[in-house]
Amino acid sequence: MGGWHDLRIDGDRLCQRLEALGEIGAVHGPNGERGCARLALTDEDRQGRDLVVSWMADLGLAISMDAIGNVVATRSGSDPTAAAVMVGSHIDTVRTGGRFDGNLGVLCGLEIIETLDQHDVVTRRPVQVAFFTDEEGARFAPDMLGSQVYVGALAVEEALDVLAADNGARLGDELNRIGYAGPTPVPAASFPHCYAELHIEQGPVLEQEGITIGVVTGVQGISWTEVTIVGQSAHAGTTPMHLRHDPMAVAARAIHELRLVAGYLGAPQVATVGSLTLVPNLINVIPSSVVFTIDLRNTNEAILEGIEAQVFAACRAYASDEGCQISMRTLARFEPVEFDDDMIDLVEATAQRLGHSTRRMPSGAGHDAQMLARVCPTSMVFVPSVNGLSHNIAEYTTPADIEAGANVLLQVVLAHAFE
Ligand code: GLV
Ligand code: MN
Ligand code: MN
Repeated sequence: MGGWHDLRIDGDRLCQRLEALGEIGAVHGPNGERGCARLALTDEDRQGRDLVVSWMADLGLAISMDAIGNVVATRSGSDPTAAAVMVGSHIDTVRTGGRFDGNLGVLCGLEIIETLDQHDVVTRRPVQVAFFTDEEGARFAPDMLGSQVYVGALAVEEALDVLAADNGARLGDELNRIGYAGPTPVPAASFPHCYAELHIEQGPVLEQEGITIGVVTGVQGISWTEVTIVGQSAHAGTTPMHLRHDPMAVAARAIHELRLVAGYLGAPQVATVGSLTLVPNLINVIPSSVVFTIDLRNTNEAILEGIEAQVFAACRAYASDEGCQISMRTLARFEPVEFDDDMIDLVEATAQRLGHSTRRMPSGAGHDAQMLARVCPTSMVFVPSVNGLSHNIAEYTTPADIEAGANVLLQVVLAHAFE
């Protein structure tokens, strides 16, 4: 098969699909920002799914939907026995999300298919485009939930019983409600030959260094914990300080400790408290309870375990000092992942052949690719995020960078699809 090295995607068509999908759950900011709120398994997620599935059908793909709502669309190859080359990502977003996180990887897959169709390209292997359920984990923890179930890292029964952080709805009920509990069994009966995912970097490194393509070597370890502290609600004016059991005082000390520990460990350690709820949350009432989340990440598993131990011990000690009860629940825990050396080399060589500057880098964010890496050779292609912003409605990546990354993914897919 000569000539496939010269195939290129249509950047305008890809950006038009990104625009159209971004209109579903669109959020507009005061300074012209255009973001997206399509939390997993909400009505907006269903509308987004329906649109992407309609595009898959328009392209004549064979569409399968599995028991956790992952959707895989297949373009057949000439060899019916060959395992597929899969690309994909997710189309759910955080509540303050952008139009690119996840969506780019899925829609780039459709653009690759349309490019192959347009040029009557017959590959030996099938090419598959997947979108996985609840990658974000913002509504249903853990993150990467659908891809974990797909690869067999999480039991489907357990996943279906997860309760929503916003309204307590059961994941399985929400999946049925939006009509995406499919018949295909999980874990998948067979896995792809390889998996590649195009994604925005979601951080500042590529932009700051003026580099177009991030060659992703793996994903850092992720630790999510929910901390609940229960004290004694009482009057803010009448209760002397030394007689209080104030859960907010415990949370404040714990959060301060988290910043200190992350600070002295230094990069790449990161630590975030992104959610905090006080009950009853009133100015003149000592809270009865505080619930907050801790997100810790590091590329080094031993360091991650060390900071977990230190921070959790500090939470317990501060709760004890204040006479409060404390409980901690793990919401997600993933060790650092290293991608396949050959796939990494292929992404790098492909990007360089297409004339792009490259940089090897680990991913700071979690991705479906880290789950697929358990079952087949995997890597990712990153493109720059303007101002390093993501999980923010100001998230933006230029059309030129989108086109560059999409062409790298196309060529990576073709390198495997003909072999
Ligand atoms: C998922 O997108 C995460 O990295 O939090
Ligand atoms: Mn993502
Ligand atoms: Mn995300």
